[in-house]
Amino acid sequence: MKLLSCVKKQYSFCKGCMACFKLGYCVIKDVAVKIVAKMHDADILVFATPVYYYSVSGQLKTMLDRANPLYNTDYVFTQVYLMATAAEDEAETVESTTKAVQGWVDCFDRATLVKTVFAGGVNEAGKIAGNLALEEAYLLCKSIQ
Ligand SMILES: Cc1cc2nc3c(=O)[nH]c(=O)nc-3n(C[C@H](O)[C@H](O)[C@H](O)COP(=O)(O)O)c2cc1C
Repeated sequence: MKLLSCVKKQYSFCKGCMACFKLGYCVIKDVAVKIVAKMHDADILVFATPVYYYSVSGQLKTMLDRANPLYNTDYVFTQVYLMATAAEDEAETVESTTKAVQGWVDCFDRATLVKTVFAGGVNEAGKIAGNLALEEAYLLCKSIQ
């Protein structure tokens, strides 16, 4: 299992040039290219994001856009999971965040968004301690190993 954090990484927005469909790779030379190559080869993708205005964080959205070169390739992953945190605790808080990721997954025919693990009520560092979502994520990881 490989953990890739985008928090401190600098990568550009997709510019929509669609050159990746012709070339098979992204013309923007930054760290996103390496991350996307790892996504291609992974058996399972697990995205983690805070809920930002009822969607994914900008870092994750940009990474999903930059993964456009994977479309129509022989990518390996078939299962996708989402882990999200938010200040609010209601189940519907994460609905449109899940929908944003579902929209990406739907473009990859062999892949399914299997589950979203949601940790609500997390509005400051450390507040996630004891959250039931941690146990859920732990058991899920064990079950897919
Ligand atoms: C720009 C921004 C937008 C946010 N939007 C929401 C939101 O729509 N709903 C919500 O419940 N929490 C929202 N939050 C709170 C974060 O989702 C929450 O604090 C999360 O647990 C932070 O995760 P982190 O500590 O991993 O950054 C927002 C926070 C920021 C900074």
